[in-house]
Amino acid sequence: ATALAERVPVAVETAAPAAASRTLTVLYASETGNSAALAKAFAQDATAQGIHATAVSMADYKVRGLKDEQDLVVITSTHGEGDPPQASVGFFEFLESRKAPKLPQLRFAVLALGDSTYEKYCEAGKRIDRRLEELGAQRIAARVDCDVDYEEPASAWHANVLRALAPVGQASAAAPVAASSAVTPAQTAAFDKKNPYAASVIDNIVLTGRGSSKETRHIELSLADSGLTYQPGDALGIVPRNDPALVASLIEKLKLQADAPVTVKQETLPLHEALGGAFEVTAATPRFLDHWASVTGSSELERLRSPEEGAARTAFLHNHHILDIVNRFPASGIEPATLLAGLRPLQPRLYSIASSLAATPEEVHLTVSTVRYNLHDVPRAGVASGYLASLTGEDATLPVYVQPSAHFHLPANDVPIIMIGAGTGVAPYRAFMQQREAEGASGRSWLFFGERNFRSDFLYQVEWQALLKSGALSRMDVAFSRDGANKVYVQDRLREQGRDIYAWLEDGARIYVCGDATHMAPDVHKALAGVIEAHSGLSHEAANEYLNELQRDRRYLLDVY
Ligand code: 2AM
Repeated sequence: ATALAERVPVAVETAAPAAASRTLTVLYASETGNSAALAKAFAQDATAQGIHATAVSMADYKVRGLKDEQDLVVITSTHGEGDPPQASVGFFEFLESRKAPKLPQLRFAVLALGDSTYEKYCEAGKRIDRRLEELGAQRIAARVDCDVDYEEPASAWHANVLRALAPVGQASAAAPVAASSAVTPAQTAAFDKKNPYAASVIDNIVLTGRGSSKETRHIELSLADSGLTYQPGDALGIVPRNDPALVASLIEKLKLQADAPVTVKQETLPLHEALGGAFEVTAATPRFLDHWASVTGSSELERLRSPEEGAARTAFLHNHHILDIVNRFPASGIEPATLLAGLRPLQPRLYSIASSLAATPEEVHLTVSTVRYNLHDVPRAGVASGYLASLTGEDATLPVYVQPSAHFHLPANDVPIIMIGAGTGVAPYRAFMQQREAEGASGRSWLFFGERNFRSDFLYQVEWQALLKSGALSRMDVAFSRDGANKVYVQDRLREQGRDIYAWLEDGARIYVCGDATHMAPDVHKALAGVIEAHSGLSHEAANEYLNELQRDRRYLLDVY
Protein backbone atom coordinates (compact mmCIF):
# COMPACT_ATOMS: atom_id res chain seq x y z
CA ALA A 1 0.00 0.00 0.00
CA THR A 2 1.22 3.48 -0.66
CA ALA A 3 1.53 5.94 2.14
CA LEU A 4 -1.41 7.87 0.81
CA ALA A 5 -3.68 4.86 0.81
CA GLU A 6 -2.80 4.30 4.45
CA ARG A 7 -4.07 7.67 5.48
CA VAL A 8 -7.16 7.31 7.55
CA PRO A 9 -10.13 8.97 5.93
CA VAL A 10 -11.97 10.43 8.87
CA ALA A 11 -15.29 11.37 7.42
CA VAL A 12 -16.99 12.34 4.24
CA GLU A 13 -15.63 15.72 3.42
CA THR A 14 -18.07 18.40 4.44
CA ALA A 15 -18.54 21.67 2.65
CA ALA A 16 -16.13 23.69 4.73
CA PRO A 17 -16.89 27.31 5.42
CA ALA A 18 -14.57 29.75 3.70
CA ALA A 19 -12.72 30.55 6.91
CA ALA A 20 -11.76 26.91 7.28
CA SER A 21 -9.82 26.62 4.07
CA ARG A 22 -6.69 25.61 6.01
CA THR A 23 -5.89 21.93 6.20
CA LEU A 24 -5.13 20.03 9.36
CA THR A 25 -2.95 16.94 9.66
CA VAL A 26 -3.16 14.96 12.86
CA LEU A 27 0.10 13.09 13.03
CA TYR A 28 0.43 10.27 15.52
CA ALA A 29 3.06 7.84 16.74
CA SER A 30 1.55 5.04 18.72
CA GLU A 31 3.02 2.08 20.52
CA THR A 32 -0.09 0.49 21.99
CA GLY A 33 -2.76 2.32 20.03
CA ASN A 34 -3.63 5.07 22.51
CA SER A 35 -2.11 7.88 20.45
CA ALA A 36 -3.69 6.50 17.30
CA ALA A 37 -7.14 6.42 18.91
CA LEU A 38 -6.73 9.96 20.26
CA ALA A 39 -5.54 11.21 16.85
CA LYS A 40 -8.44 9.66 14.99
CA ALA A 41 -10.93 11.09 17.48
CA PHE A 42 -9.32 14.50 17.09
CA ALA A 43 -9.44 14.40 13.30
CA GLN A 44 -13.03 13.26 13.44
CA ASP A 45 -14.12 16.11 15.69
CA ALA A 46 -12.16 18.61 13.61
CA THR A 47 -13.92 17.35 10.49
CA ALA A 48 -17.25 17.69 12.23
CA GLN A 49 -16.25 21.25 12.89
CA GLY A 50 -15.73 21.91 9.18
CA ILE A 51 -11.96 21.58 9.14
CA HIS A 52 -10.31 19.58 6.39
CA ALA A 53 -8.58 17.07 8.68
CA THR A 54 -6.66 13.84 8.16
CA ALA A 55 -5.14 11.52 10.77
CA VAL A 56 -1.94 9.85 9.64
CA SER A 57 0.65 7.67 11.33
CA MET A 58 4.22 9.02 11.37
CA ALA A 59 5.21 5.63 9.98
CA ASP A 60 3.33 6.43 6.76
CA TYR A 61 3.93 10.14 6.61
CA LYS A 62 5.87 11.49 3.65
CA VAL A 63 8.19 13.89 5.44
CA ARG A 64 8.71 16.03 2.36
CA GLY A 65 5.09 17.13 2.74
CA LEU A 66 5.88 18.92 6.00
CA LYS A 67 6.76 22.18 4.29
CA ASP A 68 3.28 22.27 2.75
CA GLU A 69 1.39 21.65 5.96
CA GLN A 70 -0.72 24.42 7.41
CA ASP A 71 -1.98 23.15 10.76
CA LEU A 72 -0.31 20.18 12.40
CA VAL A 73 -1.41 18.41 15.54
CA VAL A 74 1.03 15.82 16.87
CA ILE A 75 0.10 13.08 19.31
CA THR A 76 2.98 10.85 20.30
CA SER A 77 3.75 8.39 22.99
CA THR A 78 7.23 7.74 24.32
CA HIS A 79 8.82 4.37 24.34
CA GLY A 80 11.34 2.83 26.72
CA GLU A 81 13.99 5.28 27.86
CA GLY A 82 12.66 8.37 26.12
CA ASP A 83 12.57 6.99 22.59
CA PRO A 84 9.86 7.64 20.03
CA PRO A 85 7.63 4.67 19.13
CA GLN A 86 9.51 2.30 16.83
CA ALA A 87 7.57 2.95 13.66
CA SER A 88 8.14 6.70 13.94
CA VAL A 89 11.92 6.62 14.23
CA GLY A 90 12.35 7.66 10.59
CA PHE A 91 10.15 10.70 11.06
CA PHE A 92 12.10 11.81 14.13
CA GLU A 93 15.39 11.33 12.35
CA PHE A 94 14.27 13.53 9.50
CA LEU A 95 12.72 16.22 11.69
CA GLU A 96 15.79 16.50 13.88
CA SER A 97 18.23 16.41 10.98
CA ARG A 98 19.61 19.32 9.03
CA LYS A 99 17.43 18.23 6.12
CA ALA A 100 14.29 19.40 7.92
CA PRO A 101 12.79 22.45 6.20
CA LYS A 102 12.06 25.77 7.93
CA LEU A 103 8.38 25.82 8.84
CA PRO A 104 7.27 29.41 9.31
CA GLN A 105 3.94 28.67 7.59
CA LEU A 106 3.04 26.01 10.12
CA ARG A 107 0.84 26.20 13.21
CA PHE A 108 1.11 23.27 15.60
CA ALA A 109 0.12 21.70 18.90
CA VAL A 110 1.60 18.65 20.63
CA LEU A 111 0.08 16.12 22.98
CA ALA A 112 2.70 13.90 24.63
CA LEU A 113 1.85 10.56 26.23
CA GLY A 114 4.28 8.97 28.63
CA ASP A 115 4.91 7.24 31.89
CA SER A 116 6.25 9.26 34.81
CA THR A 117 8.00 6.20 36.21
CA TYR A 118 10.65 6.94 33.61
CA GLU A 119 13.17 9.70 33.94
CA LYS A 120 12.64 10.80 30.33
CA TYR A 121 8.95 11.36 30.78
CA CYS A 122 7.09 12.26 27.56
CA GLU A 123 10.45 12.84 25.88
CA ALA A 124 9.28 12.09 22.32
CA GLY A 125 6.56 14.75 22.55
CA LYS A 126 8.96 17.23 24.12
CA ARG A 127 11.42 16.70 21.28
CA ILE A 128 8.85 17.32 18.56
CA ASP A 129 7.47 20.35 20.35
CA ARG A 130 10.93 21.85 20.75
CA ARG A 131 12.00 21.07 17.21
CA LEU A 132 8.89 22.47 15.52
CA GLU A 133 9.45 25.71 17.39
CA GLU A 134 13.11 25.75 16.32
CA LEU A 135 12.02 25.34 12.73
CA GLY A 136 9.94 28.48 13.03
CA ALA A 137 6.46 27.01 13.44
CA GLN A 138 3.85 28.79 15.58
CA ARG A 139 2.46 27.01 18.60
CA ILE A 140 -1.37 27.00 18.71
CA ALA A 141 -1.51 25.73 22.29
CA ALA A 142 0.98 24.70 24.95
CA ARG A 143 2.12 21.10 24.89
CA VAL A 144 0.38 18.85 27.38
CA ASP A 145 2.24 15.90 28.90
CA CYS A 146 0.08 13.03 30.06
CA ASP A 147 0.95 10.23 32.43
CA VAL A 148 -0.42 6.70 32.07
CA ASP A 149 -3.82 7.94 33.25
CA TYR A 150 -3.98 10.20 30.23
CA GLU A 151 -7.71 10.40 29.58
CA GLU A 152 -8.58 13.59 31.43
CA PRO A 153 -5.63 15.80 30.44
CA ALA A 154 -5.87 14.49 26.87
CA SER A 155 -9.53 15.35 26.76
CA ALA A 156 -8.92 18.89 28.08
CA TRP A 157 -6.11 19.42 25.54
CA HIS A 158 -8.35 18.10 22.75
CA ALA A 159 -11.09 20.59 23.59
CA ASN A 160 -8.64 23.44 23.95
CA VAL A 161 -6.82 22.86 20.66
CA LEU A 162 -10.06 22.31 18.74
CA ARG A 163 -11.34 25.60 20.07
CA ALA A 164 -8.16 27.33 18.96
CA LEU A 165 -8.44 25.79 15.49
CA ALA A 166 -12.12 26.59 15.07
CA PRO A 167 -12.85 28.75 12.07
CA VAL A 168 -13.76 32.27 13.14
CA GLY A 169 -17.28 32.49 14.51
CA GLN A 170 -17.50 28.78 15.31
CA ALA A 171 -15.45 28.65 18.44
CA SER A 172 -18.33 28.03 20.77
CA ALA A 173 -19.49 24.97 18.86
CA ALA A 174 -16.26 23.14 19.44
CA ALA A 175 -16.22 22.25 23.09
CA PRO A 176 -19.21 19.92 23.44
CA VAL A 177 -18.13 17.77 20.48
CA ALA A 178 -14.66 17.51 21.87
CA ALA A 179 -15.58 16.37 25.32
CA SER A 180 -17.75 13.54 24.06
CA SER A 181 -15.45 11.73 21.69
CA ALA A 182 -11.97 12.78 22.71
CA VAL A 183 -10.97 9.54 24.30
CA THR A 184 -13.39 6.99 22.97
CA PRO A 185 -11.23 3.98 22.14
CA ALA A 186 -11.78 2.23 18.83
CA GLN A 187 -13.66 -0.54 20.53
CA THR A 188 -17.28 -1.48 20.77
CA ALA A 189 -17.38 -4.01 23.58
CA ALA A 190 -19.36 -3.22 26.68
CA PHE A 191 -16.28 -3.85 28.80
CA ASP A 192 -13.25 -1.61 28.70
CA LYS A 193 -10.43 -0.20 30.79
CA LYS A 194 -12.81 1.71 33.05
CA ASN A 195 -15.31 -1.11 33.25
CA PRO A 196 -13.46 -4.43 32.95
CA TYR A 197 -15.07 -7.85 32.86
CA ALA A 198 -14.48 -10.22 35.78
CA ALA A 199 -13.17 -13.29 33.96
CA SER A 200 -13.00 -16.62 35.82
CA VAL A 201 -9.60 -18.22 35.92
CA ILE A 202 -10.05 -21.67 34.35
CA ASP A 203 -6.44 -22.74 34.55
CA ASN A 204 -3.18 -21.31 35.84
CA ILE A 205 -0.22 -23.63 35.40
CA VAL A 206 3.54 -23.25 35.34
CA LEU A 207 4.85 -24.04 31.86
CA THR A 208 8.52 -23.98 32.70
CA GLY A 209 9.87 -27.27 33.97
CA ARG A 210 11.78 -28.27 37.10
CA GLY A 211 15.09 -26.54 37.42
CA SER A 212 14.12 -23.64 35.17
CA SER A 213 15.57 -20.25 36.00
CA LYS A 214 12.15 -18.79 35.16
CA GLU A 215 8.53 -19.18 36.19
CA THR A 216 6.43 -18.81 33.06
CA ARG A 217 2.73 -19.49 33.37
CA HIS A 218 -0.08 -20.44 31.05
CA ILE A 219 -3.31 -18.83 32.20
CA GLU A 220 -6.73 -19.61 30.77
CA LEU A 221 -9.62 -17.26 31.39
CA SER A 222 -13.29 -17.62 30.61
CA LEU A 223 -15.01 -14.89 28.64
CA ALA A 224 -18.30 -16.81 29.04
CA ASP A 225 -21.20 -14.52 28.29
CA SER A 226 -19.20 -11.28 28.33
CA GLY A 227 -19.62 -10.72 24.62
CA LEU A 228 -15.90 -9.90 24.47
CA THR A 229 -14.18 -10.96 21.27
CA TYR A 230 -10.66 -10.53 19.96
CA GLN A 231 -8.40 -11.28 17.01
CA PRO A 232 -5.08 -13.13 17.22
CA GLY A 233 -2.53 -10.36 17.73
CA ASP A 234 -4.72 -8.34 20.11
CA ALA A 235 -3.78 -7.77 23.72
CA LEU A 236 -5.69 -8.39 26.92
CA GLY A 237 -5.77 -5.57 29.43
CA ILE A 238 -5.75 -6.84 32.99
CA VAL A 239 -6.39 -4.85 36.14
CA PRO A 240 -4.13 -6.14 38.90
CA ARG A 241 -4.27 -5.68 42.67
CA ASN A 242 -1.31 -5.01 44.88
CA ASP A 243 0.12 -7.68 47.13
CA PRO A 244 -1.82 -7.46 50.45
CA ALA A 245 1.40 -8.08 52.40
CA LEU A 246 3.04 -5.08 50.74
CA VAL A 247 0.02 -2.91 51.47
CA ALA A 248 0.05 -4.04 55.10
CA SER A 249 3.78 -3.23 55.43
CA LEU A 250 3.26 0.29 54.11
CA ILE A 251 0.36 0.94 56.45
CA GLU A 252 2.25 -0.44 59.41
CA LYS A 253 5.43 1.45 58.66
CA LEU A 254 3.57 4.76 58.50
CA LYS A 255 1.51 3.87 61.59
CA LEU A 256 -1.72 4.43 59.71
CA GLN A 257 -5.08 2.73 60.28
CA ALA A 258 -5.89 0.12 57.62
CA ASP A 259 -9.57 0.99 57.72
CA ALA A 260 -9.16 4.77 57.86
CA PRO A 261 -11.62 6.24 55.34
CA VAL A 262 -10.05 7.93 52.33
CA THR A 263 -11.60 9.55 49.28
CA VAL A 264 -10.56 8.41 45.83
CA LYS A 265 -12.33 9.84 42.79
CA GLN A 266 -15.28 11.02 44.89
CA GLU A 267 -15.62 7.61 46.50
CA THR A 268 -14.92 6.87 50.15
CA LEU A 269 -13.17 3.60 50.91
CA PRO A 270 -10.89 2.13 53.57
CA LEU A 271 -7.19 2.94 53.17
CA HIS A 272 -6.15 -0.70 52.64
CA GLU A 273 -8.67 -0.96 49.79
CA ALA A 274 -7.34 2.19 48.16
CA LEU A 275 -3.76 0.97 48.44
CA GLY A 276 -4.73 -2.50 47.24
CA GLY A 277 -6.64 -1.55 44.14
CA ALA A 278 -6.42 2.13 43.29
CA PHE A 279 -2.76 3.20 43.44
CA GLU A 280 0.64 2.01 42.31
CA VAL A 281 2.54 1.20 45.52
CA THR A 282 5.57 -0.70 44.24
CA ALA A 283 8.10 1.23 42.15
CA ALA A 284 8.73 4.83 43.17
CA THR A 285 8.40 7.58 40.59
CA PRO A 286 10.35 10.87 40.44
CA ARG A 287 7.11 12.46 41.55
CA PHE A 288 6.94 10.30 44.68
CA LEU A 289 10.52 11.21 45.45
CA ASP A 290 9.68 14.92 45.21
CA HIS A 291 6.64 14.43 47.36
CA TRP A 292 8.44 12.43 50.03
CA ALA A 293 11.24 14.98 50.15
CA SER A 294 8.65 17.64 51.01
CA VAL A 295 6.81 15.43 53.48
CA THR A 296 9.93 14.38 55.41
CA GLY A 297 12.13 17.41 54.79
CA SER A 298 15.02 14.97 54.30
CA SER A 299 18.08 16.75 52.93
CA GLU A 300 19.25 13.54 51.27
CA LEU A 301 16.02 13.23 49.31
CA GLU A 302 16.04 16.95 48.67
CA ARG A 303 19.49 16.69 47.10
CA LEU A 304 18.28 13.97 44.71
CA ARG A 305 15.70 16.40 43.34
CA SER A 306 18.22 18.75 41.82
CA PRO A 307 18.58 18.62 38.03
CA GLU A 308 22.33 17.87 38.29
CA GLU A 309 21.58 14.67 40.20
CA GLY A 310 19.81 12.93 37.31
CA ALA A 311 22.04 9.86 37.29
CA ALA A 312 22.00 9.51 41.09
CA ARG A 313 18.22 9.89 41.11
CA THR A 314 17.79 7.19 38.47
CA ALA A 315 20.08 4.84 40.39
CA PHE A 316 18.27 5.60 43.65
CA LEU A 317 14.84 4.95 42.13
CA HIS A 318 16.15 1.73 40.70
CA ASN A 319 17.14 0.53 44.14
CA HIS A 320 14.29 1.94 46.17
CA HIS A 321 10.66 1.02 45.90
CA ILE A 322 8.11 3.13 47.73
CA LEU A 323 8.36 0.76 50.71
CA ASP A 324 12.15 1.19 50.84
CA ILE A 325 11.88 4.96 50.75
CA VAL A 326 9.31 4.93 53.52
CA ASN A 327 11.55 2.59 55.52
CA ARG A 328 14.66 4.70 55.09
CA PHE A 329 12.95 8.08 55.41
CA PRO A 330 10.16 7.53 57.91
CA ALA A 331 7.37 10.05 58.41
CA SER A 332 5.27 9.90 61.50
CA GLY A 333 1.87 11.30 62.20
CA ILE A 334 0.96 11.86 58.56
CA GLU A 335 -2.60 11.67 57.26
CA PRO A 336 -3.48 8.82 54.88
CA ALA A 337 -4.19 11.48 52.24
CA THR A 338 -0.59 12.69 52.50
CA LEU A 339 0.64 9.28 51.40
CA LEU A 340 -1.93 9.02 48.62
CA ALA A 341 -1.00 12.45 47.25
CA GLY A 342 2.39 11.08 46.16
CA LEU A 343 0.99 8.01 44.43
CA ARG A 344 -0.37 7.56 40.97
CA PRO A 345 -3.40 5.55 39.92
CA LEU A 346 -2.95 1.82 39.47
CA GLN A 347 -2.77 1.11 35.75
CA PRO A 348 -4.00 -1.90 33.83
CA ARG A 349 -1.31 -3.97 32.12
CA LEU A 350 -1.42 -5.37 28.60
CA TYR A 351 -0.51 -8.94 27.68
CA SER A 352 -0.39 -10.35 24.16
CA ILE A 353 -3.18 -12.89 23.80
CA ALA A 354 -1.96 -16.48 23.33
CA SER A 355 -5.13 -18.07 21.97
CA SER A 356 -7.61 -17.90 19.13
CA LEU A 357 -11.38 -17.91 19.56
CA ALA A 358 -11.45 -20.28 16.58
CA ALA A 359 -9.72 -22.92 18.72
CA THR A 360 -11.15 -22.09 22.15
CA PRO A 361 -14.39 -20.13 21.88
CA GLU A 362 -15.22 -17.97 24.89
CA GLU A 363 -11.70 -18.32 26.28
CA VAL A 364 -8.62 -16.19 26.31
CA HIS A 365 -5.15 -17.50 27.18
CA LEU A 366 -2.05 -15.67 28.37
CA THR A 367 1.62 -16.60 28.65
CA VAL A 368 3.10 -14.73 31.59
CA SER A 369 6.56 -14.78 33.06
CA THR A 370 6.44 -14.06 36.78
CA VAL A 371 8.85 -11.30 37.70
CA ARG A 372 10.53 -12.24 40.99
CA TYR A 373 13.68 -10.85 42.56
CA ASN A 374 15.19 -9.75 45.84
CA LEU A 375 15.83 -6.14 46.75
CA HIS A 376 17.47 -5.31 50.08
CA ASP A 377 17.00 -9.00 50.95
CA VAL A 378 13.24 -8.72 50.61
CA PRO A 379 11.61 -10.92 47.95
CA ARG A 380 9.59 -8.86 45.45
CA ALA A 381 7.29 -9.65 42.55
CA GLY A 382 6.04 -7.73 39.56
CA VAL A 383 2.70 -6.04 40.28
CA ALA A 384 0.73 -7.75 37.53
CA SER A 385 2.72 -10.95 37.03
CA GLY A 386 2.85 -11.53 40.79
CA TYR A 387 -0.88 -10.98 41.03
CA LEU A 388 -1.54 -13.36 38.13
CA ALA A 389 0.65 -16.00 39.77
CA SER A 390 -1.47 -15.74 42.92
CA LEU A 391 -4.76 -16.42 41.09
CA THR A 392 -4.87 -20.15 41.61
CA GLY A 393 -7.98 -20.62 43.77
CA GLU A 394 -11.19 -22.25 42.56
CA ASP A 395 -13.15 -18.99 42.47
CA ALA A 396 -10.40 -16.70 41.25
CA THR A 397 -11.48 -13.98 38.83
CA LEU A 398 -9.54 -11.32 36.99
CA PRO A 399 -10.82 -7.98 35.64
CA VAL A 400 -10.02 -7.85 31.91
CA TYR A 401 -10.78 -5.98 28.69
CA VAL A 402 -9.64 -6.39 25.10
CA GLN A 403 -7.12 -3.92 23.69
CA PRO A 404 -7.18 -4.38 19.93
CA SER A 405 -3.85 -4.17 18.15
CA ALA A 406 -3.60 -1.64 15.35
CA HIS A 407 -1.59 -3.79 12.96
CA PHE A 408 -0.21 -6.94 14.59
CA HIS A 409 -2.69 -9.25 12.89
CA LEU A 410 -2.58 -12.18 10.49
CA PRO A 411 -2.53 -11.45 6.76
CA ALA A 412 -4.72 -13.27 4.24
CA ASN A 413 -4.55 -17.04 4.62
CA ASP A 414 -2.28 -17.62 1.64
CA VAL A 415 0.43 -15.16 2.70
CA PRO A 416 3.57 -16.75 4.19
CA ILE A 417 4.49 -15.55 7.70
CA ILE A 418 7.75 -15.54 9.62
CA MET A 419 7.24 -15.32 13.38
CA ILE A 420 10.14 -14.35 15.62
CA GLY A 421 9.69 -14.54 19.37
CA ALA A 422 11.83 -14.83 22.46
CA GLY A 423 10.42 -15.94 25.81
CA THR A 424 6.77 -14.97 26.29
CA GLY A 425 7.05 -13.21 22.95
CA VAL A 426 5.89 -16.52 21.52
CA ALA A 427 2.37 -15.91 22.90
CA PRO A 428 0.75 -14.25 19.85
CA TYR A 429 2.18 -16.96 17.59
CA ARG A 430 0.27 -19.60 19.48
CA ALA A 431 -2.84 -17.52 18.68
CA PHE A 432 -1.77 -17.13 15.03
CA MET A 433 -1.16 -20.84 14.58
CA GLN A 434 -4.40 -21.86 16.30
CA GLN A 435 -6.22 -19.55 13.91
CA ARG A 436 -4.35 -20.72 10.80
CA GLU A 437 -4.89 -24.36 11.71
CA ALA A 438 -8.61 -23.81 12.39
CA GLU A 439 -8.99 -22.08 9.03
CA GLY A 440 -6.85 -24.58 7.13
CA ALA A 441 -4.73 -21.67 5.88
CA SER A 442 -2.65 -22.47 2.81
CA GLY A 443 0.10 -19.91 3.52
CA ARG A 444 3.40 -21.19 4.94
CA SER A 445 4.31 -20.36 8.56
CA TRP A 446 7.82 -20.30 10.05
CA LEU A 447 8.51 -19.90 13.75
CA PHE A 448 11.74 -18.75 15.39
CA PHE A 449 11.65 -19.27 19.15
CA GLY A 450 14.30 -18.45 21.73
CA GLU A 451 14.50 -19.27 25.44
CA ARG A 452 17.12 -20.23 27.97
CA ASN A 453 17.10 -24.03 28.28
CA PHE A 454 15.64 -26.70 26.05
CA ARG A 455 14.72 -29.02 28.89
CA SER A 456 12.81 -26.58 31.03
CA ASP A 457 11.86 -23.59 28.87
CA PHE A 458 10.52 -24.92 25.56
CA LEU A 459 7.16 -23.20 25.96
CA TYR A 460 4.28 -25.12 24.30
CA GLN A 461 6.74 -27.64 22.83
CA VAL A 462 4.12 -30.37 22.36
CA GLU A 463 1.77 -27.98 20.56
CA TRP A 464 4.44 -26.79 18.12
CA GLN A 465 5.36 -30.36 17.37
CA ALA A 466 1.73 -31.25 16.64
CA LEU A 467 1.45 -28.21 14.36
CA LEU A 468 4.60 -29.21 12.50
CA LYS A 469 3.20 -32.69 12.09
CA SER A 470 -0.15 -31.46 10.77
CA GLY A 471 1.71 -29.16 8.40
CA ALA A 472 0.02 -25.99 9.74
CA LEU A 473 3.48 -24.91 10.89
CA SER A 474 5.92 -25.31 8.01
CA ARG A 475 9.22 -24.72 9.81
CA MET A 476 10.54 -24.08 13.27
CA ASP A 477 13.98 -22.97 14.44
CA VAL A 478 14.85 -22.72 18.11
CA ALA A 479 17.65 -20.97 19.96
CA PHE A 480 18.31 -22.11 23.52
CA SER A 481 20.70 -19.54 24.83
CA ARG A 482 21.98 -21.28 27.92
CA ASP A 483 22.42 -24.89 26.82
CA GLY A 484 25.81 -24.57 25.20
CA ALA A 485 29.08 -22.88 25.94
CA ASN A 486 28.11 -19.93 23.74
CA LYS A 487 24.89 -17.95 23.69
CA VAL A 488 22.63 -18.51 20.71
CA TYR A 489 19.75 -16.17 20.08
CA VAL A 490 16.94 -16.09 17.53
CA GLN A 491 18.91 -13.61 15.42
CA ASP A 492 21.71 -16.18 15.05
CA ARG A 493 19.17 -18.61 13.63
CA LEU A 494 17.89 -15.89 11.29
CA ARG A 495 21.40 -15.40 9.95
CA GLU A 496 21.90 -19.15 9.51
CA GLN A 497 18.65 -19.36 7.55
CA GLY A 498 19.25 -16.09 5.72
CA ARG A 499 18.95 -17.45 2.21
CA ASP A 500 15.51 -18.94 2.85
CA ILE A 501 14.32 -15.94 4.83
CA TYR A 502 15.15 -13.69 1.92
CA ALA A 503 13.39 -16.07 -0.48
CA TRP A 504 10.30 -16.02 1.74
CA LEU A 505 10.36 -12.22 1.79
CA GLU A 506 10.61 -12.13 -1.98
CA ASP A 507 7.57 -14.43 -2.01
CA GLY A 508 5.64 -11.80 -0.08
CA ALA A 509 6.11 -13.12 3.47
CA ARG A 510 5.28 -10.98 6.48
CA ILE A 511 7.64 -10.85 9.44
CA TYR A 512 6.49 -10.55 13.04
CA VAL A 513 8.72 -9.80 16.00
CA CYS A 514 7.46 -10.15 19.57
CA GLY A 515 9.21 -9.91 22.92
CA ASP A 516 11.88 -7.73 24.47
CA ALA A 517 12.02 -4.21 23.05
CA THR A 518 15.32 -3.11 24.53
CA HIS A 519 17.76 -5.68 23.17
CA MET A 520 16.02 -8.39 21.20
CA ALA A 521 14.03 -6.28 18.74
CA PRO A 522 16.95 -4.01 17.70
CA ASP A 523 19.27 -7.05 17.39
CA VAL A 524 16.70 -8.87 15.28
CA HIS A 525 16.30 -5.76 13.14
CA LYS A 526 20.04 -5.65 12.49
CA ALA A 527 20.11 -9.36 11.70
CA LEU A 528 17.26 -8.99 9.21
CA ALA A 529 18.96 -6.07 7.51
CA GLY A 530 22.14 -8.17 7.34
CA VAL A 531 20.25 -11.13 5.88
CA ILE A 532 18.72 -8.94 3.19
CA GLU A 533 22.08 -7.39 2.37
CA ALA A 534 23.82 -10.77 2.20
CA HIS A 535 21.28 -12.47 -0.04
CA SER A 536 19.89 -9.72 -2.24
CA GLY A 537 23.08 -8.21 -3.58
CA LEU A 538 21.80 -4.82 -2.42
CA SER A 539 24.08 -2.26 -0.79
CA HIS A 540 24.01 -1.80 2.97
CA GLU A 541 21.84 1.31 2.58
CA ALA A 542 19.51 -0.30 0.06
CA ALA A 543 19.08 -3.36 2.29
CA ASN A 544 18.09 -1.13 5.18
CA GLU A 545 15.69 0.70 2.92
CA TYR A 546 14.20 -2.66 1.84
CA LEU A 547 13.48 -3.39 5.52
CA ASN A 548 12.10 0.10 6.14
CA GLU A 549 9.85 -0.33 3.15
CA LEU A 550 8.57 -3.62 4.62
CA GLN A 551 7.83 -1.75 7.82
CA ARG A 552 5.97 1.01 5.99
CA ASP A 553 3.98 -1.57 4.04
CA ARG A 554 3.11 -3.28 7.31
CA ARG A 555 4.81 -6.46 6.25
CA TYR A 556 7.25 -6.18 9.17
CA LEU A 557 5.35 -5.82 12.42
CA LEU A 558 6.46 -5.50 16.02
CA ASP A 559 4.76 -6.29 19.30
CA VAL A 560 7.53 -5.50 21.74
CA TYR A 561 7.61 -4.37 25.34
P1 2AM B 1 19.60 -15.09 27.90
O1 2AM B 1 18.67 -14.80 29.04
O2 2AM B 1 20.28 -16.39 28.04
O3 2AM B 1 20.56 -13.97 27.61
C1 2AM B 1 14.06 -15.24 26.35
O4 2AM B 1 14.32 -14.44 27.44
C2 2AM B 1 15.31 -15.52 25.58
O5 2AM B 1 15.78 -14.31 24.95
C3 2AM B 1 16.44 -16.02 26.42
O6 2AM B 1 17.00 -17.12 25.76
C4 2AM B 1 17.40 -14.86 26.47
O7 2AM B 1 18.73 -15.25 26.59
C5 2AM B 1 17.18 -14.33 25.08
N1 2AM B 1 17.80 -13.01 24.84
C6 2AM B 1 18.42 -12.17 25.70
N2 2AM B 1 18.91 -11.10 25.09
C7 2AM B 1 18.59 -11.24 23.79
C8 2AM B 1 18.82 -10.46 22.62
N3 2AM B 1 19.46 -9.30 22.67
N4 2AM B 1 18.36 -10.92 21.45
C9 2AM B 1 17.69 -12.09 21.38
N5 2AM B 1 17.45 -12.88 22.42
C10 2AM B 1 17.89 -12.46 23.62
